[in-house]
Amino acid sequence: MLDIITLASKKTDNFFYMLVHNNTQAILIDPIDATLAREELEQRGLELVAIYNTHWHPDHVGGNAELREYAPSCDVVVPEDEAARIEDLTGVKATRTITSKDTLDFGGSTIKVHALPGHTMGHIAYEVEGHLFLGDVIFAGGVGHCKLGGDVDTLHNTIRHIVEDLDGDLIVHCGHNYVQKNVQFALQFEPDHAGLQTQLERAKQAEPRTIRATTIKEERSYNPFLRTDEATLIEALKSYQGGSPWQSYDKDGIDDSQHAFLMLRGLRDHY
Ligand SMILES: [Fe+2]
Repeated sequence: MLDIITLASKKTDNFFYMLVHNNTQAILIDPIDATLAREELEQRGLELVAIYNTHWHPDHVGGNAELREYAPSCDVVVPEDEAARIEDLTGVKATRTITSKDTLDFGGSTIKVHALPGHTMGHIAYEVEGHLFLGDVIFAGGVGHCKLGGDVDTLHNTIRHIVEDLDGDLIVHCGHNYVQKNVQFALQFEPDHAGLQTQLERAKQAEPRTIRATTIKEERSYNPFLRTDEATLIEALKSYQGGSPWQSYDKDGIDDSQHAFLMLRGLRDHY
């Protein structure tokens, strides 16, 4: 059984994650803040055995070089489709490139790889022992943007796949905490939604620079980007008058769920 430690970067607004086996070995997922990562490793007396990246964005891979220098024998595991880009950005060549066909092993625990494209086109997530580390795919109350190498329709398909095919009880660990702004955005369309109201209260009371893990099931209950198949949300979006209206997101051959997703992503980009 692995221990999971959440780390709040002091350099950026990212959160990143440390998996610990047997109080001796550690893996870091998207360790942007190498200084903080080293402090944690040293304080806990842990050997860094691998760095895992979810996608190429600099605020996820930016700690690779310094940590590899610190632990020269550690593995660097990156999504195959983004390996070249990550190497260009960091100067560090991956020791292993992976796709959703691969599994990894850490201290006897199997780590499953999911392809979740859309925020970036090669974005992957790591699943282990009921936990899903998914970078910038889903955030509490929202999803990642598609402005830096992503595609909104692809992200919609990925979100439908997560909702329909993955275990709702998976505990979701993401790269940023935008819950308050996400929920305030969503309340524009559904001001009476009890789940959104609860999340807003909870977000206001949370300590600064902390993040609460969520689950797919919990996000499915209030996060509008996971609910674009719900008639009530579609109706709310159709009647929304506060910005670019429903009709302006029309495209040939799209269904209401895709249409709603495009509108939500478009409006959230400018919120
Ligand atoms: Fe990102």
